Amino acid sequence: MRVFFTGGSGKAGRHVIPYLLEQGHRVMNVDLTPLNHPGVDNLTADITDSGQMFNAMSMYAGFDEMEPGTGVPQFDAVVHFAAVPRILIKPDNETFRVNTVGTYNVIEAAVKLGIKKIIIASSETTYGICFSDGKTDPAYLPLDEEYDVNPMDSYGLSKVVNEQTARAFQRRTGVDIYALRIGNVIEPHEYQALFPHYFKHPEVRRRNAFCYIDARDLGQIVDLCLKKDGLGYQVFNAGNDHNGAIIPSKELAEHFFPGVRVTRELEEHEALFSNKKIKELLGFKEQHNWRKYVKGE
Ligand SMILES: NC(=O)c1ccc[n+]([C@@H]2O[C@H](COP(=O)([O-])OP(=O)(O)OC[C@H]3O[C@@H](n4cnc5c(N)ncnc54)[C@H](O)[C@@H]3O)[C@@H](O)[C@H]2O)c1
Repeated sequence: MRVFFTGGSGKAGRHVIPYLLEQGHRVMNVDLTPLNHPGVDNLTADITDSGQMFNAMSMYAGFDEMEPGTGVPQFDAVVHFAAVPRILIKPDNETFRVNTVGTYNVIEAAVKLGIKKIIIASSETTYGICFSDGKTDPAYLPLDEEYDVNPMDSYGLSKVVNEQTARAFQRRTGVDIYALRIGNVIEPHEYQALFPHYFKHPEVRRRNAFCYIDARDLGQIVDLCLKKDGLGYQVFNAGNDHNGAIIPSKELAEHFFPGVRVTRELEEHEALFSNKKIKELLGFKEQHNWRKYVKGE
């Protein structure tokens, strides 16, 4: 597929784009800075400028596309990752503005230019534990897509608004728009660098409900979304099978979330951030469980 990818130069995109290229997609990365990776086309553009998004989505991805003399090809899909990726990088109102206006612009341009598949990056922070004031408990565990998301911070709120924006455009147009509630993204080198500390101090992962998503497994999830048509508007948790912790799930829930209702029997290490839906609807099979890369001691 010919894929328009925003924010591909960042932490997640720089692993997801190579995965998509390996699957045979053509990818144009639209970001404020280019991604230096063989085979990717780069365009510098700002998602907060609607004109730039309409324009970028109706451009050649590279000089080679001018050769056939048949005009500019259509993009088959948009993957929208560009964002301010958490609170405390920019002032709160700027985080909210860039993320919500940017997402509106990207989705609007895509649907009005006739692109039928749109995948957007939402976040585990929508569940409202990650960036809350003080220690807050979820309404229940495991966290699933049915949850009434209710964050109290500008970033989490921007992602809830983006999901609603996606839902509105899907309702109006009937195209497929899938929002991925991405878990804490882990790059290959980070298992060694971070996980031993997490195992010693599991409390530091409480705000993430102990979730993680391997950046390459996230590539697989995006690819599965590109290939799966006809689901309309969907929200998917994008996480790995297990918690990023050595303590079994039941104990983890009892110890770190005492009194919180656990809605079903959990497998020994099953993630408290449920990835059941991507397995059942998209056929996700994780390739990069943390146990492959670091000892659980
Ligand atoms: N990293 C995580 O753990 C995590 C978890 C959940 C969700 N997410 C979401 O996944 C997506 C990717 O996250 P990431 O960790 O790779 O973030 P990142 O900051 O590393 O990458 C984001 C990219 O977006 C680009 N960008 C920012 N503002 C832009 C603008 N106005 N116009 C064009 N490009 C712009 C940046 O240059 C950057 O390359 C984001 O939407 C983020 O909110 C990330």
